[in-house]
Amino acid sequence: MQIITLASRKGGVGKSMAARSLAVAALIEGRRAAIIDADPQGSIVAWSQRREEQAPSVIAGSPTKLSELERAGADVVFIDTPPSVHPVIGMAIEAAHLTLILTGPYPEDLAAIGSSVQMVRNIGKKSGIVLNRTPTRSTALSLARSALTAFELPICPTAIAQRVAHPYASASGQTVQEWEPDGAAAAEIQAVWKWAKEILNG
Ligand SMILES: Nc1ncnc2c1ncn2[C@@H]1O[C@H](COP(=O)(O)OP(=O)(O)OP(=O)(O)O)[C@@H](O)[C@H]1O
Ligand SMILES: [Mg+2]
Repeated sequence: MQIITLASRKGGVGKSMAARSLAVAALIEGRRAAIIDADPQGSIVAWSQRREEQAPSVIAGSPTKLSELERAGADVVFIDTPPSVHPVIGMAIEAAHLTLILTGPYPEDLAAIGSSVQMVRNIGKKSGIVLNRTPTRSTALSLARSALTAFELPICPTAIAQRVAHPYASASGQTVQEWEPDGAAAAEIQAVWKWAKEILNG
């Protein structure tokens, strides 16, 4: 069973969106994906209640729920973590084979990821950075990429652009791959998933 944690100290940068979307990417290729919603805000639990499909299975709680999911036959589990500082974040990074740190592209976003980078570095697990909510046409993206190289972690070559498909899909309990399968947002998620698997299996 592979475990992927989504983390970032800053709120609203797309941890929950990425957990849902990557879980659905894994489902689409036939894997038994599950999500642990370790954020007391419960965004993914709420999303799963809006969702018609049973999969991915979503359980609220901490990484201690991993053994339950393993017994239930999950082969990939995504752990969504809260923003700010919370003991469950360290537990989720420790439990994971890969931690993805989500960030927006602007200087304040980038300044905020240092503590998350430090955490994954201290714990010594595989990790990478994913840019989200990027403008489709702007130099902000290339500036962000060069600023991020200072952290010396893999940076996903595909950034996830700011697109209304994400909140609209979520509002109906879906992800962009289901909402608009041929859209640009779905293609970006697919590319991020492919990159994450390369790190995971590399
Ligand atoms: N690429 C995107 N384009 C447009 N909207 C997005 C994108 N990514 C996320 N969102 C929306 O932004 C909001 C915040 O995203 P999300 O809940 O995933 O962030 P988060 O990091 O989990 O926040 P929190 O730290 O509060 O848990 C949600 O409404 C989500 O649908
Ligand atoms: Mg969240």
